[in-house]
Amino acid sequence: MLGLKLPTDPRWVNIVEKNIEEILTDHAFCEQKAASTAISLIVSFPEYTDLVQEMTKLVKEEISHFKMVHDKIIARGWTLGRDRKDEYVNKLLKFFPKGGSRETHLVHRLLYAALIEARSCERFKLLSEELEDQELAKFYRDLMVSEANHYTMFLNFARKYGKREEVDKKWQDLLEFEAEIMKDLGTKETIHG
Ligand SMILES: [Fe+2]
Ligand SMILES: [Fe+2]
Repeated sequence: MLGLKLPTDPRWVNIVEKNIEEILTDHAFCEQKAASTAISLIVSFPEYTDLVQEMTKLVKEEISHFKMVHDKIIARGWTLGRDRKDEYVNKLLKFFPKGGSRETHLVHRLLYAALIEARSCERFKLLSEELEDQELAKFYRDLMVSEANHYTMFLNFARKYGKREEVDKKWQDLLEFEAEIMKDLGTKETIHG
């Protein structure tokens, strides 16, 4: 699915189900980070007009996802906790070497974003299929569709701004690297943990 090389073990959902407060907290901050990334791309690459247009739309959508998760937290009588470290993203962002041209840097940022959307989408799909809590399962089914669209959008931008063959090779290499990272994950009640 989505080109990912290693599917998540469905037993991860059993871990999540024991601590819904924790997954919702982590998830809220994933949405906040997605909005922040979109803003950061606007600031770093203002001359890419169609990217700026799409990122402007994305900021709104991701922050509305943040609110949806926040509303769920409130409805269950909880208060949003502090941001959690995202070990997965921190490891992933070390893959591409620093430096290179501005275009290269942009392509790398877009590929990272595409992959994080893809993995989030895969995790949401699993939650939508496996959670016993039907209300949350439906919630994750709806969000899954949005994140799948974001994955495609980021990957298409990378292919548009970079050299197609080079971008496709980098994407495959990044997917391999991500699968290695995932081997040690799937054990925590976080979206990427
Ligand atoms: Fe989102
Ligand atoms: Fe997204």
